[in-house]
Amino acid sequence: MPDLTPVLLKEEIDEAVAKLAHRISTDFENHQLVLVGVLKGAFIFLADLIRHLTIPVKVDFVRIASYGSETSTSGTIRLTKNLEIDIKNKDVLIIEDIIDTGLSLTYLVDHLKSFKPKTVRICTLIDKRERRKIDIQIDYVGHIIKKGFLVGYGLDYAEEYRNLPAVYDLQL
Ligand code: IMP
Ligand code: MG
Repeated sequence: MPDLTPVLLKEEIDEAVAKLAHRISTDFENHQLVLVGVLKGAFIFLADLIRHLTIPVKVDFVRIASYGSETSTSGTIRLTKNLEIDIKNKDVLIIEDIIDTGLSLTYLVDHLKSFKPKTVRICTLIDKRERRKIDIQIDYVGHIIKKGFLVGYGLDYAEEYRNLPAVYDLQL
């Protein structure tokens, strides 16, 4: 049996989500905000975050897949589901579960910019810095976690554990 060590309690996640939503609601008041969730991992974070927002928003999703081993990004990234909402001249906020090397997000930001949005900002629940390869500017961070392979609250290992209500470090 794999070993799961708690990293973020449900209460710590809830607190971070509420704080982020408050900041986002303030920063984007009177803007035309489109949240772009990155499937699949961000679906739970996005679902919780939008229910705390006090401003109107539109929601869309993209899906990016990367080839590589099961616990790290290879650097070969492709888009397997594109936007459906027109983001031209809109303020876009990418909602990601976790940023590790930064390769996926760098690819996604470039892709979204090709649709000529007014701004593109990044919000992640977890900023995991140990393996960062690209120094990407993250505008909204829920928690900084040094290292580990994390599962739960949307995060998976081989499609498992997404349903856990808290975040755990998985030792295989
Ligand atoms: P990056 O391109 O290396 O920044 O990887 C980002 C993507 O890899 C995230 O959106 C996750 O889908 C996945 N990922 C990175 N680290 C973890 C982890 O610790 N647990 C689960 N998925 C992860
Ligand atoms: Mg992801």
